[in-house]
Amino acid sequence: MRDRVVFYLNGVRTEAGPEDASLMLAEYLRTRRGLTGTKIVCAEGDCGACTVLRLFPHAPGTDGQNFLPVNSCITLVAQLDGSSLVTVDALQDKGQLHETQRAMVDCHGSQCGFCTPGFVMALTGMVEEKLSRSDATVDIKEAKNCLTGNLCRCTGYLPIIDAALSIDLSKCRPLKERFYSNAQETALAEVFGQSALVEDKTFSFFAPTTLEEALAYLARYPDTRILGSGTDLSVVHNKRKATLSRLLGLHLIPSLYQIREDSGLVHVGARVTHAEFRHFLKTHVPEFASYLDVFASPQIKNMGTVVGNIATASPIGDTPPAFLALDAIIGVRGPTGEREIPISKFFLAYRKTALAPGELITYVKFPIPEKATDLRFYKSSNRKDLDISAVNLAVRVTWKNEARLEIRDIAVAAGGVAPVPYRFFRTEELLRQRYDIEAAVKELQSEVTPISDLRASAGYRRVILENLFRKFFREVVP
Ligand SMILES: Cc1cc2nc3c(=O)[nH]c(=O)nc-3n(C[C@H](O)[C@H](O)[C@H](O)COP(=O)(O)OP(=O)(O)OC[C@H]3O[C@@H](n4cnc5c(N)ncnc54)[C@H](O)[C@@H]3O)c2cc1C
Ligand code: FES
Ligand code: FES
Repeated sequence: MRDRVVFYLNGVRTEAGPEDASLMLAEYLRTRRGLTGTKIVCAEGDCGACTVLRLFPHAPGTDGQNFLPVNSCITLVAQLDGSSLVTVDALQDKGQLHETQRAMVDCHGSQCGFCTPGFVMALTGMVEEKLSRSDATVDIKEAKNCLTGNLCRCTGYLPIIDAALSIDLSKCRPLKERFYSNAQETALAEVFGQSALVEDKTFSFFAPTTLEEALAYLARYPDTRILGSGTDLSVVHNKRKATLSRLLGLHLIPSLYQIREDSGLVHVGARVTHAEFRHFLKTHVPEFASYLDVFASPQIKNMGTVVGNIATASPIGDTPPAFLALDAIIGVRGPTGEREIPISKFFLAYRKTALAPGELITYVKFPIPEKATDLRFYKSSNRKDLDISAVNLAVRVTWKNEARLEIRDIAVAAGGVAPVPYRFFRTEELLRQRYDIEAAVKELQSEVTPISDLRASAGYRRVILENLFRKFFREVVP
């Protein structure tokens, strides 16, 4: 059993005991390692100033093979276990600026400069991805997409987009050539195969290599927090609303990285990130993949797990209504063995789920809708990118015939209108009996009592819910 977290920092093997492992990475880099290029602004994953690049080579997913941008302000050092990390401080090569840095300088992409390291790292992440696909150019859509997780108060963004478009990919070498060696590969494989317990009197981080060890730890310490990727937990921690003092990391358990389709059923393991899920969905359920385009930022999608989005049970989470509409099943392991919970029975009350003490989620699975199904997911938020939904809606309909006048099967689910992600069973039943949209809208409204909060008023939520519902039928019924 290792008693230290092991990772590579700018190509150098680094070990962290409990004092360092319990820190957020951005703080660790700045205060313990003197690597002050990485900035901390929001400490909530919103502005991208803290962006670093992380490679997690032995995770059995495709995205583990590239250096990917992540937010270091909401990443615990403990989570780096088994990773290789590159920070902005190491980007220059023998006194030569990286091509992304050169582009930012030449296009005047920096004014006060506080956001600049984050933009440079986000751009470098895009370059890494493009090099891995042997792309020759950067187009404007890709440039804008890769920057959705970065905020700048000074430049108005246009010079930064110009910088992105001016990057000459032929002058870029993959960071792996400089920061990832065969020796590192072997050393990190060893780390990935060995459980770790990193603890002192105030902090405990257990990272087992098997589910059995994980369950035994949960049974022994009921106050343990299960750590997905921390994009929810760390924000709460940084706001000082919770302390992360006893954590169970699942990142060394290979089976949890599985994402696959078996006889029409999609299986998504608990360690699958939104980025990997979206990639997979493009060929299997493209409507769901497009919906994830407006989920968070590239940095958050590279970190956050799909299962974490369900387990956190936020009433405005984006994937729960989608999974409700897809009749997903949650796979759970606990002290009494395995069980499966239909997602419609998973959310019990505000942030309360059907998970029993000592249980954890191992996967979510759902049937791929049959070809003739109309499926749509909608998200309404104050800002298009990197914003949490005010209301979201998922609708799935199969019709009795091509005339689309009678419904054979329907599922309607929404977020932001009830204390839990909500499935509209009564409205569905009405529409199955008779296809009457006006009556259905009345039923829809009667099923929920939205609240007013800082994102939207109750009245606004009702209007959006109704409009999105009507929009679905306008879109799919000629
Ligand atoms: C800047 C920013 C933007 C965001 N944008 C969006 C957005 O657009 N839409 C959206 O829906 N969300 C958004 N989120 C929220 C968050 O990214 C997602 O909810 C994410 O999927 C959480 O996954 P995680 O792995 O980081 O979970 P964590 O933070 O690690 O965990 C969340 C909860 O799930 C529990 N948990 C995790 N894994 C398991 C498991 N296997 N078994 C049991 N319990 C488990 C944890 O104990 C914790 O209670 C955003 C967050 C940030 C910081
Ligand atoms: S400091 Fe703003 S995203 Fe990390
Ligand atoms: S240059 Fe000042 S915040 Fe971007």
